Amino acid sequence: MQEGMIWSDIRALPKSRRYDEVREALLAMLGDERDVVAWMATVSAALREAFGWLWVGFYRLEGDELVVGPYQGAPACLRIPVSRGVCGACVRRGETVLVPDVRRFADHIVCDSRSRSEIVVPVRDGGGALRAVLDVDSDELAAFDETDRQGLERLVAEMAELSWTRRP
Ligand code: SME
Repeated sequence: MQEGMIWSDIRALPKSRRYDEVREALLAMLGDERDVVAWMATVSAALREAFGWLWVGFYRLEGDELVVGPYQGAPACLRIPVSRGVCGACVRRGETVLVPDVRRFADHIVCDSRSRSEIVVPVRDGGGALRAVLDVDSDELAAFDETDRQGLERLVAEMAELSWTRRP
C-alpha cells in the first residue's frame, strides 16, 4: 500500500490489483505473527475494508462442526454441522465453493437475509489438513469469480503458513 493510502482506498482499484495490494499490506503488517486469532481477525478486517463485502470471516473445523471464528459483519451462526450449508459443502468437497445465487443453492444457511452470493474457501495447514474455511458474502448477485477464487485461496494459504505450518 502506498504511503498515505488507507484500506478502503483499495476499493477504487481493479479487482486483481486489490488482491495484490491487500496481500502485500497484510504480509508486511503480520510479519511473523503466528497467533491464529490475530491473523484471522486482521485478514477479515482488511478484506472487508478493501472490498466492502457484507460479511467476511472464518469458521474453524472442530470435529464434525464448524465453529465461528474472527469475522466482520453482522452477528452470524455460531456452529454449522459439516453436513450443512455452503460452508459444510466446502469441507466435504475439500475445495472452494462459489455460489452466484444463494437462493439457488438448496442447503444455503441464511445468516443475513441481505446475502445474495457467496464464496467459501478451505484453509489448510502445512500438512494439507483442512483446519478452517474463509466465508465471504455479498449483497450483490454473482459478486465472485475466478479472480476472487485465486486471490482468496492464495491469501489464506500464505496466512496459514504464518502459523500452523511453522508452528510445531
Ligand atoms: N451461508 C453460510 C452460513 C454462514 S453465513 O453466511 C456467515 C452457509 O450456507 O454455510
